[in-house]
Amino acid sequence: MRKDFGAKPWSYPQPVFIVAAYDEDEKPNAMNAAWGGISDTTQVSLCLSSNHRTVKNLQKTKAFTINIADTAHVLACDYIGLVSGNKVPDKVAKAGFTVTKSTFVNAPVINELAMALECKLIRYDSESGFLLGEIVNVSIDESVLTKDGKTDMTKFEPIVFDPVNAVYRKLGEKVGKAFKDGRILIDRIEKEQEIMEAEEIFENLEDLETEESEEMKEIEEEIKEVDEILENIEALNKEEKTKHK
Ligand SMILES: Cc1cc2nc3c(=O)[nH]c(=O)nc-3n(C[C@H](O)[C@H](O)[C@H](O)COP(=O)(O)O)c2cc1C
Repeated sequence: MRKDFGAKPWSYPQPVFIVAAYDEDEKPNAMNAAWGGISDTTQVSLCLSSNHRTVKNLQKTKAFTINIADTAHVLACDYIGLVSGNKVPDKVAKAGFTVTKSTFVNAPVINELAMALECKLIRYDSESGFLLGEIVNVSIDESVLTKDGKTDMTKFEPIVFDPVNAVYRKLGEKVGKAFKDGRILIDRIEKEQEIMEAEEIFENLEDLETEESEEMKEIEEEIKEVDEILENIEALNKEEKTKHK
């Protein structure tokens, strides 16, 4: 049995994006956004209400950053999602965050959060709240990178939003290899298919063999009948010969 919850903005995992943008005086503002994700190879989509200070800012600058919230900054990230820059203009600083201007777009990167997507605004529809952005660059702090330049998940601890329980959770254990583990199932299904096909061929061969042996029986019986006829003819011939003597 499944329980129906109706139309809800729920999925797992939902991101904790800290969207940041400058105002016209290069004053940074940021908001928390859980309704969004990757849309294309270099695009992100978000659903942002038009009354937010951050949204007003990014519409002017046509740029924004998406900073990935982490376990070390849960309070600050939630605060950013509770308080509006419309009322608290220095909320970024109040949250304990400092910023550096992106070298790719006119938007602030939050120094304390290790990963940022630096984006240009493609379009924003204030009625639906739909925002489409182009990812121009992704920057990750070296402190959370491995020697070979990948994210070190023992150091980088992004959080996700659990919308059903209204809590933040940290990412868990590695449980599989993407683009690889599914191969095991592909191979297994292929093997099962091969076995099924081989069994079919075997069954057909068996049918053929029984058909052939039935044909052979018929032929043998026909030969027997012919032999009997020949024997009868021979016996008749003998009889006639003895009569004539
Ligand atoms: C966990 C969480 C997720 C949120 N997700 C969104 C979202 O996806 N879209 C949105 O418009 N607001 C969202 N908000 C609300 C904004 O972050 C919040 O209204 C914020 O104060 C806006 O700040 P600003 O006016 O300074 O830009 C979320 C808030 C929280 C706490």
